[in-house]
Amino acid sequence: MTISKLLDQRLSRAMQAAGIADTFPAVIKPSGRPEFGDYQANGIMAAAKAVKTNPRELATRVLEQLELDDVADKVEIAGPGFINIHLKNSWLARQAKALLTADSLLEKTASPETIVIDYSGPNLAKEMHVGHLRSTIIGDAVARTLDYLGHTVIRQNHVGDWGTQFGMLIAHLIEQPDHERDVQLADLETFYRQAKIRFDEDEAFAERARHFVVKLQAGDPECLQHWQQFIAVSLQHCEEVYNKLNVLLTRADVKPESAYNKDLPGIISTLDARGLLTRDEGALCVFLEEFKGKDGNIVPAIVQKSDGGYLYATTDLAALQYRQQVLQASRILYFVDARQSLHLNQVFSIAKKAGFVKPSTSLEHMAFGTMMGKDGKPFKTREGGTVKLVDLLGEAEQRAFQLVTRKNPELDETERQHIAHIVGIGAVKYADLSKNRTSDYIFNWDTMLSFEGNTAPYLQYAYARISSIFRKAEVVDTQADIQLHQAAEHQLALKLLQFSDAVHSVASEGSPNLLCNYLFELSGNFMTFYEACPILKADDAVRDSRLQLAQLTANTLKTGLELLGIDVMERM
Ligand code: ARG
Repeated sequence: MTISKLLDQRLSRAMQAAGIADTFPAVIKPSGRPEFGDYQANGIMAAAKAVKTNPRELATRVLEQLELDDVADKVEIAGPGFINIHLKNSWLARQAKALLTADSLLEKTASPETIVIDYSGPNLAKEMHVGHLRSTIIGDAVARTLDYLGHTVIRQNHVGDWGTQFGMLIAHLIEQPDHERDVQLADLETFYRQAKIRFDEDEAFAERARHFVVKLQAGDPECLQHWQQFIAVSLQHCEEVYNKLNVLLTRADVKPESAYNKDLPGIISTLDARGLLTRDEGALCVFLEEFKGKDGNIVPAIVQKSDGGYLYATTDLAALQYRQQVLQASRILYFVDARQSLHLNQVFSIAKKAGFVKPSTSLEHMAFGTMMGKDGKPFKTREGGTVKLVDLLGEAEQRAFQLVTRKNPELDETERQHIAHIVGIGAVKYADLSKNRTSDYIFNWDTMLSFEGNTAPYLQYAYARISSIFRKAEVVDTQADIQLHQAAEHQLALKLLQFSDAVHSVASEGSPNLLCNYLFELSGNFMTFYEACPILKADDAVRDSRLQLAQLTANTLKTGLELLGIDVMERM
């Protein structure tokens, strides 16, 4: 059981014994400062207010009922009626030792769920660009975390593989002199850009492109074959990016938009049967009161165009139906740009009203902000174009290589390259993961690759430093007890025991930055401990105890970074 859960139980019991109704929670929080103890119980003020008693008096009555002698050596009332709890060194030491010898660094979930996670979802007509980075990285970290906690995680890569853009690509492809052979789509992005320019500038070409869309959707074999060629090239390209990024998505997780084509007429007829459809200027729409624009008019969700074509929303409704009825999800998480929030909220609401998903199923848009350049504008190349992900990741590795070479010129080149890959990719991922998901964030090579501050290199370095202690230690008695004497030891053990809380908060909020903050603080606690408490020079029992604290720190850092999809290395 986590410390906060245990304290919550004990405090709640005492509060009830003191006559407080069980609707008042104990509100256990880690203390902001060590002099206020390790934890605070803040719930008594609210209870006192409700029954109009003096909160300090009520707190005194709670303390009389509180049984915490085994865990705490000091419990005191502070301020208007907070309770400060100072945990015992001996108790913390035993908990830390138990954690070190347990199979897992935390307790798995008590109620495993089937959770669908929709992330990455690039449009296959072009190459992956920086706009896909956040969804891919954040979604993957949350998927790993939920998996680790014991949930059944189903990854769904809702790639865009249907629509006008493919007609455009086919029209352009067919006019290439060598199109009978397998066209080399080494640079899908360039190909897309050429096609797009023609599409925008040449009306006859645009007409041909639209014609190909109709043919494609009607199942014309030649069109289908060209289309499949694009999809194959593009998916392979995505896989290369996922590999480089250490993202766990595979071909089996791809459930493209086109997979729902056959379900779309059924979606429309169900909406119709439920009385949700309105014809507006020829198109079929769903008007819902809760989606009013600034002008007070409802913003409709269009589900079928006047020419019979279906839309993004229609496909998303079909996907929801599938995720509910076939995949049996009880929670569905969407890691999608905040700018799609109206779209997703409309889809969620319609899906519930139409009965595509159960009322109890939790549909959550895990929105995120835009990645900005140093100038505070959306991240672009120097020429103002979109930045391809392969280029960005290549640059990360290259910059990390220069950094490693400067730090460790004596290492051979292959090893420097290996370290550069782990550090460079880790830095890009961590810079994103450590920011508050919902705000925009500024992409900055210098800060993300720094060995100081809340960065991947800092955490990776902390791990490597611990590994080097073990290389020097040679013999380590893993049976030894942990003992805590110094304040720095106490703080480190306490932090180590809070890993579970951090991981569980990522699972419920879909915000990996909570785990990043935790790992950063843990490294800080370790560095303070390392400076204040000599390890290898200490006497036997103390040395062994400190080595075990170091070991538990290393395990926690490694596992935590793994949940974020970031590797560590023993030396760097
Ligand atoms: N392909 C979409 C885009 O590039 C993202 C898909 C998100 N998932 C979804 N179910 N709508 O904007």
